[in-house]
Amino acid sequence: MNSFKPEFIEKLKRAESIVFFTGAGVSAESGISTFRGTDGIWNRLKPEELANFDAFMRNPERVWEWYQYRKQIIHQSKPNAAHIAIAEFQNYFNDVVVVTQNVDNLHRRAGSKVIYELHGNIERNYCIKCKTEYNQPDLSFPDKKPKCKCGGLIRPDIVWFGEMLPEDQFSASEAAAQRCDIIFVVGTSAVVYPAAQIPLLAKRFGAYLVEINLERTEISSLADCSLLGKAGEIFPDILKEVKQIRSTEKLNRE
Ligand code: OAD
Ligand code: ZN
Repeated sequence: MNSFKPEFIEKLKRAESIVFFTGAGVSAESGISTFRGTDGIWNRLKPEELANFDAFMRNPERVWEWYQYRKQIIHQSKPNAAHIAIAEFQNYFNDVVVVTQNVDNLHRRAGSKVIYELHGNIERNYCIKCKTEYNQPDLSFPDKKPKCKCGGLIRPDIVWFGEMLPEDQFSASEAAAQRCDIIFVVGTSAVVYPAAQIPLLAKRFGAYLVEINLERTEISSLADCSLLGKAGEIFPDILKEVKQIRSTEKLNRE
């Protein structure tokens, strides 16, 4: 089991409000590839051919083929020990928010309740012309280039490069970052903006920043506590500490 520095334990004891800012690395142990790093998707495939609106208009079949493939992998995967431990924090703290860059729904499936999705959700789709949503979870498009009743192309509800983040999700994330006592930055290279502003904002507003990653990242120099390793191994250990200190805290208050 990991042993954590006393300062971090003290923060966990006193915290009321927690944010988890997560990226592809939190789902890696569920079998979903990350974007950067050794086996990253963007080492093999070009984002300019797949993850932007012009590429979609040029070749919707190719973009859809890729998303159908990813959807299938995601559909077959399960939340891992990190998603599950993160959801369990809700039993010990009143204000727990997950701000995720992931589109895979695994935090929701693990039971997290307050989730802000900065980059969309792979199970949602909409028509580019009339904006009708096509969100049935079991929706499959037999058509390689699915179209809406109005004739417009249907696209995945994913934020592509060059597109705006959903305003409501971003502003709710900013508010959570500003009020949290601890922000966990988990499995993200923290290089994609504006999402990566969230941990910076939390830090500016006084949060204690804990990074969990296999390796050092852009944000490591700002971290108050850096835990190197797999999220699925580190989070269950943090949760054990939380269980011990928060239950005695609770008992002392009662
Ligand atoms: P990246 O692929 O850039 O980074 C994944 C991070 O997870 C790396 O820093 C890895 O070291 C770390 N990692 C991998 N396995 C891990 C594990 N088991 N435990 C802990 N850490 C682990 O993913 P993101 O930062 O999420 O955008 O990428 C940001 C955005 O870029 C994505 O949301 C996506 C992509 O283009 C959109 O889809 C719009
Ligand atoms: Zn339409």
